[in-house]
Amino acid sequence: MSTPLRVLIIENSEQRTKLLLGVLHEGGYEVEYQRADSAPALAACLEGKNWDIAIFSAVTDDFGIAEALSPILEKGLNLPFVVFADGAGEEAASEAIRMGAAEWVRRDNPAQLLAAIRRELRQSALRRRQQQMEQRVRQLEKLEALGKLAGGVAHDFNNVVSAILGWAELGARDVEPQSDAAESFEQIRQQAERAASLTRQLLGYARRETLEPCEVDLNSVAGETISLLQRLIGDKIEVTLALAPNLGTTRADPSQIERVLMNLCLNARDAMPEGGSLRIETRNVSLSEMSGSRQRDARAGEYVLLTVSDTGTGMSPETIERIFEPFFTTKAEGHGTGLGLTTALGVVTQYDGWIEVVSRPGEGSTFHVFLPASEAEANAPGETGAVFAGREGA
Ligand SMILES: Nc1ncnc2c1ncn2[C@@H]1O[C@H](COP(=O)(O)OP(=O)(O)OP(=O)(O)O)[C@@H](O)[C@H]1O
Ligand SMILES: [Mg+2]
Repeated sequence: MSTPLRVLIIENSEQRTKLLLGVLHEGGYEVEYQRADSAPALAACLEGKNWDIAIFSAVTDDFGIAEALSPILEKGLNLPFVVFADGAGEEAASEAIRMGAAEWVRRDNPAQLLAAIRRELRQSALRRRQQQMEQRVRQLEKLEALGKLAGGVAHDFNNVVSAILGWAELGARDVEPQSDAAESFEQIRQQAERAASLTRQLLGYARRETLEPCEVDLNSVAGETISLLQRLIGDKIEVTLALAPNLGTTRADPSQIERVLMNLCLNARDAMPEGGSLRIETRNVSLSEMSGSRQRDARAGEYVLLTVSDTGTGMSPETIERIFEPFFTTKAEGHGTGLGLTTALGVVTQYDGWIEVVSRPGEGSTFHVFLPASEAEANAPGETGAVFAGREGA
């Protein structure tokens, strides 16, 4: 069985490229490659694509190891760089290694090249994993800081709201029961109740508490949310619901899940100013040990999956990288706080779920929300072994 390998070959001879491809093929790799023989060609290759490894094999006077390596280092790419050349001499080799080129292999030793590739791929996978962990820790720290801030504000605000409620009740006692003034006090009371319930949720988020968990049916959440959002979404956007019959339940606070879905739908709407289609889908999913999966949060088990996709603007890898950060927004001032997805992720992780994003500029976006299926529902018919190709590694 051959292993797919995306190789950036830095080489000025077609003949030698063929030989190199032969070596890789012999080594069991199914190679996808591009060849760069100049600095501009290399820059173009680095722009468009993710590579597993760069193999440098040409040495010309004006485009040597240093010229090839520096744009890769400058971009901070986690791209192993192997020099496979003859005549480079000890000097060039040590210079390459000093500059961070991982390996230098003589051209007459193809077996050593294959060993170097295997080693480098392993190390780059480790580095990637490490980067993801660090990023995750940073994100959790930010969320925690935000939670504390929100908690502090919510707490004080709650006191104010309690006072408003108290005064509204006192006021209501002083006026004629069916009068206009009584109606006004009743309105004040109702609005204050709403404010109190919002702060309770905020406090819940801050303390990572479960609010009022019960068995939630995502299908009814989807139905209700859509009827709530209809007006906001407008009629330029076609909404489709694809809800699985026999959907399992998940244990959560329904109003929180509703908010997650709302945030995703409103983002989808914002991504389709000229209209388009918004699709909400639910499914039972059974994930096996996900060998080969590149999703960092995925865990084996039974899940209910809520998917929101749109045909909107889509996102670049750089944007995707940041969408869950508190206050990250690409929207005009006054149009986005950048907290929608932060909150959504906070809720979903609170219930041991996760969110996967698949998107490309111009090709719309899909958000998969995985929530653990409740025990009782574990036997509901579902799909098995679904592994979503996320954007990881992009
Ligand atoms: N469906 C989508 N299509 C394209 N871009 C999206 C989509 N969903 C999120 N984004 C990007 O992610 C960013 C962050 O989203 P998030 O919901 O956290 O904040 P926001 O929508 O900008 O503001 P808020 O939700 O707080 O009003 C958005 O500004 C947008 O760039
Ligand atoms: Mg939003």
